[in-house]
Amino acid sequence: MNKIIRKTEELSQWRASLKSDINFIPTMGNLHDGHQKLISISKSSTCNINLVSIFVNPLQFDSKEDLKSYPRSIDKDIEIAFCNGADAIFIPNVIDIFPPNNKSISYLKASKELSSALCGLKRVGHFDGVCTVVYRLLKLVQPKNLYLGEKDWQQILIIKNLIEEKNLKINIVSVPTQRDSDGVPFSSRNKLLSKNERNILKIFSKELSHAKNIFKKDKKIDLKQLTKKLESKNISVEYLEHLNPYSLKKVQAKDNLSILAGAIKCGQTRLIDHVFLMKRNPIIAIDGPAGSGKSTITKLIAKELNLLYLDTGAMYRAISWLFMKEKIDYAKESELNKILRDISIIFKSNSCSQQDVFINHFCVTEEIRSQEISSIVSKVSSIKKVREFLVNEQRKIGKSGGLVAEGRDIGTTVFPDAEIKIFLTASIDERAKRRKSELELRGNEEIDFNQLRELIRKRDFEDSTREISPLKKANNAIELITDGYTINEVVEKIINIYNLNIPKEIQLE
Ligand code: PAF
Repeated sequence: MNKIIRKTEELSQWRASLKSDINFIPTMGNLHDGHQKLISISKSSTCNINLVSIFVNPLQFDSKEDLKSYPRSIDKDIEIAFCNGADAIFIPNVIDIFPPNNKSISYLKASKELSSALCGLKRVGHFDGVCTVVYRLLKLVQPKNLYLGEKDWQQILIIKNLIEEKNLKINIVSVPTQRDSDGVPFSSRNKLLSKNERNILKIFSKELSHAKNIFKKDKKIDLKQLTKKLESKNISVEYLEHLNPYSLKKVQAKDNLSILAGAIKCGQTRLIDHVFLMKRNPIIAIDGPAGSGKSTITKLIAKELNLLYLDTGAMYRAISWLFMKEKIDYAKESELNKILRDISIIFKSNSCSQQDVFINHFCVTEEIRSQEISSIVSKVSSIKKVREFLVNEQRKIGKSGGLVAEGRDIGTTVFPDAEIKIFLTASIDERAKRRKSELELRGNEEIDFNQLRELIRKRDFEDSTREISPLKKANNAIELITDGYTINEVVEKIINIYNLNIPKEIQLE
């Protein structure tokens, strides 16, 4: 397409003529490898029209000098944008974006909480300027997806907040910080650095990465000591903070993910860098009642996100199977203690890329799905000793994270600190319908719909009223009611939630 648009009226006309959605990549020009990645990822991930904007927004500069010295290279930018997959480039001037005396332009304030940290403290009004221009551009462009670099993590949080507040139906796609071969993150301002200043920035980035490695072992950061170390290397630290990566408040002992972020002054140029720190890899907890589609959906998510799949329901079913086989009278504590002492449950991938469940070396993958087991599993899973045993086993499996677990008490009991908690549900009719087709697929034709409906109702009642770990939505879980949605749509929704909440930089580790 290769279209250059300069006027807002022209943009609106062009927008109205389009049949596809827009992926939007807003920039201030001086495009570097970081921008190239944004444009090319946007191009390769959807069939939408790719629009890049180049606009040096005067509202987000602290000083006239900074605005004046901001590097500009428009001809080269146009070439880079088109070469990397832009279909159109919007290059307005200040009068177009902020026409004087235009009452319909909203001058916005960034979220107070999110802009009262890091760069927001030092660059007063900067994020208000970012919000004002981004909102103006979003209103003009009306994109489906907005591509932003994680290098400006605070900016992403603030724009996400803006989109939520204004109730815009725009999906943010974040792209990891791109680094040069010396570890320095690409930034338009790098152009302004002398050789010596560039070297200082390189040491800063290296020290952050070193701190990250130390954190992996020690699970803590000594900020004072690190700041002293940086200063001893002639680095002029403007701030260095260890924060919760979502609230940007001081990190707490219970936080699994955190951000170590800093700004330094190299001559007249201010530069930022950060690393994300993790005590363990992220966990997705998916809870929900029988027949909500948890297993199918969780399996697909695990595959798509390359996470371990922990099917806790299968563990309860496997124990039920064993109790049935060994004719265990589970009302007798001594019998229970004896059998639980020697149980080993293992998941293994099979040749069909599925997971087999083994209990005490018996492969029970198929057998545990029978109606016989379905009719006792709720009872077995309400036994305190069984739950304690399995919760402990599940936590052992999830110790280093990197998994998606499904069950009924994952977000409330097993992994209450999971990063993403989903409560998946559907009406009883919908769930009975799904269970029926599932059973028919397994060759079980004669099962009656009403009977299944009753079984599900009974199971719901038992699960949600049992004394230990009853089925209930965790406080901070997102409820997804899946009636009328296809499996793929639900999977996509959960993956979007994951992508929105877990920085890509962490996902790629
Ligand atoms: O990140 C940037 O380049 C700018 O802050 C943005 C988002 C284009 C707004 O001017």
